[in-house]
Amino acid sequence: MEKLTLPFLFSLLFLLVLPSSFAGVQSIKELYGFYNGSAKLFVFGDSYADPGNTPVSLSPSWKLPYGETFPGKPAGRFSDGRVLTDYIVAGNDYSTFNARIGNQTEKPAFTKSLINQISFNLKRIHDLGVKKIAVIGLQPLGCLPAQTFGSSFQQCDEAQNMVSNFHNQLLIQEVQKLNHEKKKSVFFILDLYSAFISAINEQKNHAGQLKSMNPLEPCCVGTSEGFSCGRVNEKGEKKYSVCKNPEESIFWDLVHPSQNGWHSVYLNLQSSLHQLY
Ligand SMILES: *[C@@H]1O[C@H](CO)[C@@H](O)[C@H](O)[C@H]1NC(C)=O
Ligand SMILES: *[C@@H]1O[C@H](CO)[C@@H](O)[C@H](O)[C@H]1NC(C)=O
Repeated sequence: MEKLTLPFLFSLLFLLVLPSSFAGVQSIKELYGFYNGSAKLFVFGDSYADPGNTPVSLSPSWKLPYGETFPGKPAGRFSDGRVLTDYIVAGNDYSTFNARIGNQTEKPAFTKSLINQISFNLKRIHDLGVKKIAVIGLQPLGCLPAQTFGSSFQQCDEAQNMVSNFHNQLLIQEVQKLNHEKKKSVFFILDLYSAFISAINEQKNHAGQLKSMNPLEPCCVGTSEGFSCGRVNEKGEKKYSVCKNPEESIFWDLVHPSQNGWHSVYLNLQSSLHQLY
C-alpha cells in the first residue's frame, strides 16, 4: 500500500459566520473589513477545507494532477477541483493519532481530549463576538480509500467508522451543553458523516448507469509501492494513474473527495445550511 504523507490532515475544523450585526472586537472588524452588510465566512480547517494555503514547496496539492478539473492546473486544493469550502465548508482527521500513538485502546481517551479542546476553542471564538458557529462533524473515516484499500474498495471499515461515530456523539453532547450554557443556539453541527454516507450510497445506486465508478475507489492512485497521487520518481516519470472520468468518482485520492464527491456532499448538507444565516 502507498505510504501516506499527509501532513495537513489533523487540525480542528469549524467555520464561523460573522453577520452584519456583528458587534464585538472592533479591530478584527477593521482588519477584515466587513462593513458592507454581507456575512463573512471564516474557516479553520485542514486539507478538506483548504482552497490553497499550503506552501507551494511543501505540498503535493500544488503538483499535477491536483486541480486538473478546476481551475485546470494545480492550485493547492487536495482534489481534482473544488473542495467543500468552495461550496461552503470543511472536515477533520485522526491521522496524527494513528501516526504518533497508534494504540487503538487509547483512542476513546484521545477523542475526549479532542472534544474538550474543540469546546475550549469554540468558547474562545464565541467570546470574540462571533454569533453563529458551525462545527463540522467527522467524516466516516472507515470509508476513506486509505481504509477500504484492504477490501479492494468493497466495504467501509466499520471499526474506523465507530471512531467517527463516537467523536460525533461526544461533539453533539458538547455542543448541546454549550448552547444550554449560553441559553441560545450559538453552535450547530454540520453532519459530514451522514452527508458522506449519502453521497456514497447515491453513487452506488447509480452503478451501471451514467455514474458507474465504484464510489469507494479513488480516482488518482500511486502505481507502485511508496508512491501516491501526484508523485514522480527521480527521473520525473509519473508514478500515479488518474481515472478516465473524475466526475464519476467520489474520492480523488486516498483521503480526499473529488470535486464531484464534494459537490454530492454539499448537496446533502444543503438543507442544514440555513442555520448559518
Ligand atoms: C464595500 O463594497 C464596495 C462596493 O462593492 C467596495 O468598493 C468596497 O471595497 C467594500 N468595502 C469593504 C471594506 O469591503
Ligand atoms: C495500549 O494502551 C493500553 C491502555 O493504555 C495499555 O494497557 C496497552 O499496554 C497498550 N498496548 C500497547 C501495545 O502499547
